[in-house]
Parts: sequence; C-alpha cells; structure tokens
Amino acid sequence: MDLSKLVKTTDTRPDSAPRKLSIVFASSEVVPFSKTGGLADVAASLPKALAKRGHNVAIFTPLYKHLDPEAMRLARRLRPLEVPRRAKSQAKVECTIWEARIEGGVSVFFLENEEFFGRDGLYGYEDKNFEDNAERFAFFSRAVVEFARQLNLPVEVIHCNDWHTALAPVYKDYYYEGELDQVATVLTLHNLAYQGSFDKAAFKATGLPKRFESTDELLDEEGKVNFLKSAILHADVITAVSPTYAKEIQTEDKGFGLHDALKGRAGDLVGILNGADYSIWGPTVDRYIPVRYNIEELNGKRRNKAELQHEFGLPIRPTLPTLAMISRLTEQKGLDILIPALEELLAGFEDEQQGFQFVVLGDGNNEYTKSLERLAKRYPRRVAVNLGYSEEKAHKIQAGADMLLIPSRFEPCGLTQIYAMRYGTLPIVHATGGLADTVIDAGKDGETGSGFVFHEYTKEALIEAISRASQMYRNYRRWRPLMVSAMREDFSWATSAIQYEEAYYRALAKKEKPAKKTKKAKA
Ligand code: ADP
Ligand code: GLC
Repeated sequence: MDLSKLVKTTDTRPDSAPRKLSIVFASSEVVPFSKTGGLADVAASLPKALAKRGHNVAIFTPLYKHLDPEAMRLARRLRPLEVPRRAKSQAKVECTIWEARIEGGVSVFFLENEEFFGRDGLYGYEDKNFEDNAERFAFFSRAVVEFARQLNLPVEVIHCNDWHTALAPVYKDYYYEGELDQVATVLTLHNLAYQGSFDKAAFKATGLPKRFESTDELLDEEGKVNFLKSAILHADVITAVSPTYAKEIQTEDKGFGLHDALKGRAGDLVGILNGADYSIWGPTVDRYIPVRYNIEELNGKRRNKAELQHEFGLPIRPTLPTLAMISRLTEQKGLDILIPALEELLAGFEDEQQGFQFVVLGDGNNEYTKSLERLAKRYPRRVAVNLGYSEEKAHKIQAGADMLLIPSRFEPCGLTQIYAMRYGTLPIVHATGGLADTVIDAGKDGETGSGFVFHEYTKEALIEAISRASQMYRNYRRWRPLMVSAMREDFSWATSAIQYEEAYYRALAKKEKPAKKTKKAKA
C-alpha cells in the first residue's frame, strides 16, 4: 500500500514549517462511523487538521458489525493485512482492509475481523463489557503495528489513543526491533478511568513474552494486566487532552492508580487541548437544526428553542431558561450532585412558570436513568428525559438550549462545553480538567465570560452556579453579550494541531538517539 498515493493532503504550511510526516492514527472509534463519546470526534477532527498542515494521516479503526462496506461503498484493499493471532505463535490471521475517505483528504482504514468485531456493540452489549475485550484489543493493537509495517510508505509516527490501542507501542518495541526502530509512538490519554485493566488470566491474550507476567511493566499495583500502564511506560511521548488534565493525572486524586507511572514520565507528558470541528458544530452550518443563526442574527436561536421545547414535550416559554445536558450518564459526569441539586431547585419553584426547564439526552447507568425518569414523572412540564443516543438531538439541544450543564467530577477535556459556546449556549461547569481550561466565568455581574464555573464539587456550589446563571438570564441586556463572547471563543484545531506536530517531532527526536538497551524478546 502506498500511503502517499492514497492520502491526498492540501499543504498549506508556510515554507518554514517542519517537514511532512506520515502518521498512522489508531482509534477504536471514529466519527461518523462509530462513536460512544468524544474520542470519536477527536479521531476524525485531529487527523483532518493535521492533513491540513500537510501531513499524511491514515486513520486505522475496526470494522464493526454495524458498518456495511458495500452499503458504504468502501474500497477493498487488494492485499489483506496479516496479523499474528498471538505474538508467540506464528499463526497469522488474514484481515481485509477497507478504506473510506473523509473530508480533508484523510483516509480511514477499517480492519475487518469477524471473530472480534463482527458483533453488535463496540466494547460490550447492553451494559455488559465483552469478556474477550483483552483479546480483541490486543489483536487490534498488534494490527495497528502491522498496518504501519505493511504500508509501502515509511510510517514515522504511530499515534495511539486510550487503552484500546495502548499495546501497540509495547508490541512495536518488542516484536519489531531492527525493523521499526525509527518509528515513534505517541499515546494520547483521553480518559484514565478506562485503562484496559484485566484479571491476570488475560495475560495470555496479550501474547507477550512470559517475563511480562511478573513485571510491573504490564501489571499494575493490584497485579492486574493493565494495557494503559504498559503504554505509559513504552510510548515515546504521552499527551493528555488538556493542560489541566495533564497535571491532574499526576496526582493521587485523579491519577486512577497510574499517577506514579505518569509522574515518572512527566518530562514526556504534555497537555494539548482538544479542538472542535466547526464545520459540523456551529449554528451557521449545522445540518440538523431547524433554523441556522449567527452572532448578528440571534433571533434564530429563539426559534430553535421553541422547536426544542415542542419536540421534547415541554410548554413553549421563551423567557424561561432551558437548561440541558448531553452526556454519557456515568459517575464521571457529576450526576450524583446534579440530580439532588435539580430536585432541590425544582421543589422550590411555585409553578411551572418559575425557575427553569431541564432537558437531558443521555445513556448510561441505570441508577441515574431511573432517578432522571422519576424527576420527569414528577415534573412533566419542566423536565424532559431522552434516553439513548441521537446525533440529531444532540445538535438540536446545542442550538435550542440556553445553558448546558457539565458538572463533571473530572473531565479530561470535554467537548460539549466547547460546542455549546459556539451556539451561544452558556456552559455551567465544574472547574476541572478541560472544563477549567475552556470556560471563563461570568462572575456576578456578567460583564465578561463565556459561562459559569463552580469550584467545589458539591451540590451547593452547583446550585449557586445554576441560580446565578438563571438570574442573569432574566436580564437579556446582560445575557446577550455573554452569548456573543461565548460564540466568539475559538477552539478550532489549528493551534492544537501544531502542538501535536511538535509532540511528534519530540517523539521522533528520541529515535535519533542510539536504541535503548532493553531485554527484548522476539515472536
Ligand atoms: P466524553 O467523551 O467523556 O463522553 P465529551 O464531551 O468529550 O465527553 O464528548 C461527548 C460527545 O458525545 C459529544 O460529541 C456529545 O455530543 C456526544 N454525546 C454524548 N452523549 C450523547 C447522546 N446521548 N446522544 C448523542 N450524542 C451524545
Ligand atoms: C474522553 C473524556 C473527554 C474528552 C474525550 C475526547 O472520553 O472523557 O473529557 O473530551 O475523551 O478527548
């Protein structure tokens, strides 16, 4: 496969810009093909931004069952990819590689493997993780390196994302010595709450040499096989998805047991803020929303709000603030303070014309979905709960709501607050991770700012922020400038793509040094 022929890029770099790189970008989900969260958004939009800077980027991802190559008119690569089933055995599995083009001239390559990916669900089905996830993603990680190896064009960087592709740097170091020594690996940490941590029995699935079974190179403090930990030790450069998160994960409180490993790599760890793809997320271009609008013509937002209230079965009330949430409903997302805060606030309003309306789109833990449904039952004219996943509704909410709630306990970066600002929907956020890096608090008088920030992770602090925002909303002369300054915030990928480029060069610079003397084993 000659990547240079497959991947057409538009080189817009100034003459002084660094040389063009060839990058394999590996991710378990990629918009618009597969998505459970923000990783999918980043896995499409960052490669696009890198391609715009002149780099050759090939995205590599699994072909899940819901993706039909024929219906999607994917191109079948002539040569199948041969992936060693287990590193030790030489038995190889032949996998078909399919290819799609996304905007910006980036190619997405899909790995087809019936055994591991020909089933419903990405990581599990109906609340239950697949039992063979260790084997599935060990195989996928090995395929990432094979893909990089079997391309005609010399790949310079393998960029892995989260635990699903985390074994790729480990495999590269141990099984491709002498062959891929010049290839640098970069690992991006999107969420340390998910580490690919498995019982020791999963060791076999990795296919790694026996000595890994007893070293802390693969095992974490609890003695579990931990894909992410291993990648933290092996990747040349590590990035976290916001500067604040890069610091937080080196503390015991937010390091999920990996803080020491991360501290040990502090010199190679850099926080780079995620960007937004404003060709998809923005009120002037959005293909899902009833009415498009812009900073000069904010009336369109009112119409989107009315449509939203109507669609979600709430009374149409232009002057009552509509608060919303679009989220995975997990422990991370702050529902343990949000639900009691809403209960308390809603109980305090005399009738449905007071206070606010609340709209939620989400999917996740039973405990939270039940509480939210109870709330909607008790306040049917104020609370609307939409369980499940809907891209269309997510866009309609961004455009129609007045405020977006993101009271996360921790948030590596967060994309919904970034999108919300572009729609003039003011985010109410807990000051953590990327939320702290992206939202400027409006203070008490609301003269400046792009949202509302609370610092203590408590119900009371959240209530105070919601009340402050609702109060300010009543005065449109104050609210409008806030909407405008939020809409003017720019989180496009341009700056962050340059920072990733720098991370790649840093990783490559390490390859110029003589190869590390490590005990290596060959498959
Ligand atoms: P995380 O990756 O932790 O879930 P982010 O804020 O980075 O959080 O990204 C969430 C992404 O998933 C956003 O694109 C958001 O619009 C989308 N999303 C979350 N829940 C839903 C849902 N129920 N339906 C549609 N989109 C959703
Ligand atoms: C993760 C994080 C989220 C981040 C996203 C994309 O899922 O929870 O904060 O925005 O990855 O990097």
